[in-house]
Amino acid sequence: MAPKEYNVAVAGATGAVGRQMISCLEERNFPVKSIKLLASSRSVGRRLRFNGQEVEVAELTENSFSGVDIALFSAGGGTSKRFAPSAAEHGCVVVDNSSAWRMDPDVPLVVPEVNPLAVAGYPKKHIIANPNCSTIQMVVALNPIHQAYGIKRVVVSTYQAVSGTGLKAIEELTGQTRARMENTPVEKSVYPHQIAFNCLPHIDVFLDNGYTKEEMKMVNETRKIMADEDIQVTATTVRVPVFYGHSEAVNIETRQPVSASEVAALLEKSPGVKVVDDPQNNVYPLPIDAAGKDLTYVGRIRDDESIANGINMWVVADNIRKGAATNTVQIAEILAADYL
Ligand code: A2P
Repeated sequence: MAPKEYNVAVAGATGAVGRQMISCLEERNFPVKSIKLLASSRSVGRRLRFNGQEVEVAELTENSFSGVDIALFSAGGGTSKRFAPSAAEHGCVVVDNSSAWRMDPDVPLVVPEVNPLAVAGYPKKHIIANPNCSTIQMVVALNPIHQAYGIKRVVVSTYQAVSGTGLKAIEELTGQTRARMENTPVEKSVYPHQIAFNCLPHIDVFLDNGYTKEEMKMVNETRKIMADEDIQVTATTVRVPVFYGHSEAVNIETRQPVSASEVAALLEKSPGVKVVDDPQNNVYPLPIDAAGKDLTYVGRIRDDESIANGINMWVVADNIRKGAATNTVQIAEILAADYL
C-alpha cells in the first residue's frame, strides 16, 4: 500500500514562522499530497516555493479549509481565534503556533519530547497548540530532570531574539543597527524603545500582577506540558538584539538530591537535547550556533551552591525552528503517524 499523504495548509505562510514551517515540511519529507499557502489579503498572488514548485499565496478565509487534513497556523492569536474553529468544522486538524488556544483545557499543548501522548486529546476541538518558544526549549531541558529528581521550583531569565516578534522586528533591528553606525536617526515602530544595542525587559503586554504575558506563559504552559501543577516557576523575559536563537539562564531546585554531573549525564542521553559544556575551552551554547538547528543546547551546568538541591544551567535553541516551526511539524508528524 502506498504511504498515506495529506492535504496541508499553512496559515501565515508569508511570516517568519510560516516560511520556516514550509521549509520544515520539505526538510523532514512530510507526506504532503497538496499544499495551500494562506496569508492576509495583502499577500494574495505572491509566490512561494514548496518542493521546487511555485505556489501562489491565497487569502485566509473561513472557506480555505475544505478538503484540508492538517493546517499549521502562525498568523497571530486573533487570526487563530477567528479561523481555527472554521478549519476544525471542515474536519481539518489545526496545529496552532499562537497563544490563542494554549490554556484551553480541551486543547492539548504539546512538546513531542515531553508529552507526545497528549496529542490523543485533539478530537475535542480538532486543535492542538504549540507552546510559547521560550517554554518549549526550557521544558525539553527540564523534563528529564523532573522525571528523575522531581522539580520543585524554577527561576528563569530569558534573552530572546527579535525574530520571535516577526519579520518586521528583524527589519527594525537591522535598520536601527545601521542607523546607529551611520549616525542617522533611529526609527522605531515594533518595540517601544530602541532594540539595537539595548535590552528590553518587556515581552508581550504587562498584566495586573506586574509580570508580562510572556512571563506568565512560561509559568502556566510549563505546568500544563509537564502535567504537574505543583511546579513553581518564576520568569523574567528580556528581548535582546539577537536575530535568531533564544537563550535562558535557568535555576532549578529539585525534590531529590542532585548534582551537576548527574544532570549533565542525564541530559546527554535525553531526546532533543545536546550538552555543550566545556567552559575551560570557552565552549558553551550560543544563539549563533543554535540558529538553523533543531536541538536544544544546554551548557554551564553547575551546582547551585546557595541551596541544598539546586542546579544552574544555560539553555539555547532556535526560537523559529524548535521554538515554533519544527515543533509544529513534529506534532503534525505524530498526528499523521498515529491518528489520521
Ligand atoms: P501577511 O504577510 O499577508 O501580512 P510575522 O509574524 O512574520 O509578522 O508574520 C505574520 C503572518 O501572519 C504573515 O504571514 C501575515 O500575512 C499573517 N497574517 C497576519 N494577519 C493576518 C490576517 N488577518 N489574516 C491572514 N493572515 C494574517
